[in-house]
Amino acid sequence: MTDKIKEKANLKLNGDLYDFDVHEGTIGPDVLDISKLYAQSGKFTYDPGFTSTANCKSTITYIDGEEGTLLYRGYPIDQLAEQGNYLETCYLLLNGELPNQDEYNKFEETINEYTLVNEQLNRFFTGFRPDAHPMAIMCGVVGALSAFYHDSIDINDPEQRRIACHRLIAKMPTLAAMAYKHSLGQPFMYPKNDLDYAANFLNMCFGLPTEDKEVDTTLAKAMDKILILHADHEQNASTSTVRLAGSSGANPFACIASGIACLWGPAHGGANEACIRMLEEINNVDNIPEYVKKAKDKNDPFRLMGFGHRVYKNFDPRAKVMQKICHEVLDHLGIKDDPLLAIAVELEKIALEDDYFVEKKLYPNIDFYSGIVMKSLGFPMDMFTVLFAVGRTVGWVSQWNEMIEDTSQRIGRPRQLYIGNEHRQYIGMHKR
Ligand code: CMC
Repeated sequence: MTDKIKEKANLKLNGDLYDFDVHEGTIGPDVLDISKLYAQSGKFTYDPGFTSTANCKSTITYIDGEEGTLLYRGYPIDQLAEQGNYLETCYLLLNGELPNQDEYNKFEETINEYTLVNEQLNRFFTGFRPDAHPMAIMCGVVGALSAFYHDSIDINDPEQRRIACHRLIAKMPTLAAMAYKHSLGQPFMYPKNDLDYAANFLNMCFGLPTEDKEVDTTLAKAMDKILILHADHEQNASTSTVRLAGSSGANPFACIASGIACLWGPAHGGANEACIRMLEEINNVDNIPEYVKKAKDKNDPFRLMGFGHRVYKNFDPRAKVMQKICHEVLDHLGIKDDPLLAIAVELEKIALEDDYFVEKKLYPNIDFYSGIVMKSLGFPMDMFTVLFAVGRTVGWVSQWNEMIEDTSQRIGRPRQLYIGNEHRQYIGMHKR
């Protein structure tokens, strides 16, 4: 798959004329190639937050923000979540095609080979306080993997890259579950490879070596869907962080650790935790108007968590599936009147009818309902973003691998509009 040059765009600057190729992708907006702008004109472009900037060519994920569409390798997210499974989605994101049965079996076998982590890594956890945020632990231990798997850090060897991707997909649930168990002071659970990916993860989180309890299949299915919904999302902040870290030639484990750090922020993956905290703070449907008012107040930093998105100016298609999963899980658990769900439903209704939210096209995003589901599965709030990271790992490694294979990629090195002091002379401290 490739792009084509559709036409030329002209820029007139101080009487000089510059030509730029306009590239046409498969779908989505055309892209002006301004990579030669500085060399030709001595000028940079300015685009804080990269709102108008494409940083790469990619074949992995496509979002149409106006329509509310999300495609992984061309397949709609709702079809994958409702009819596929997470490992199949991982195969698709990594390899570009859905696997046939043989390919799937072999892939599952390969991932299962890597689910254990080196026993010595277990000791890292004892260095963390039991009340450490599990995302802090994940930043540390995932980065530490590069000290354990030296045979898969040569980024120029495609086979080593493939192994690193598989290792990360396989080990993330194991490490995430260990982070959770550490907070509880409970023994780590080894992976059980006769369980599927999501059930294995739930077993490592909620199982005990003293009991032989079966994982609830409905909850495991919900967990699997949650992972699919989080698997990739184009050039979002954490993925761009992974690509930027990788552009310097850093090893894959270090790159994914940088993605985890970025994901933690409340404007990104941390929003699922922030959203539940917000629903708890609202506490009662009667208080919703007050919070909606706060969210609209320019002088108040409060925002409705789980609302709005840089790309979606329509319903986040993941939010629709998540809402369905939410109802399925609560029904299955026999939770009839979940107070947080009642607040969420009412808040969504009020916000969607409010002029401020309508005009700014602020719709619920994936994090609006995901926290309620994760909480119902039994996870504490500070594990929510960890679950996001587990699901997103395949997206990060697929995008990282695509970047390494792209011969046009160079080290990421943005420029700036300098507005600081001009050249001045150093003055000794005694004279200041
Ligand atoms: N509540 C109230 N006002 C909002 C909200 C919100 N949640 N989101 C955006 N706005 C307003 C914002 O104040 C701004 O108003 P104005 O034009 O008058 O200055 C306008 O809408 C545009 O917002 P922005 O901050 O310029 O948009 P952005 O694209 O830079 O930010 C966002 C996108 C997701 C960070 C933002 O919508 C937000 O902070 N949402 C809440 C956090 C959240 O739910 N994040 C999860 C995103 S989905 C999961 C993921 O992919 O990570």
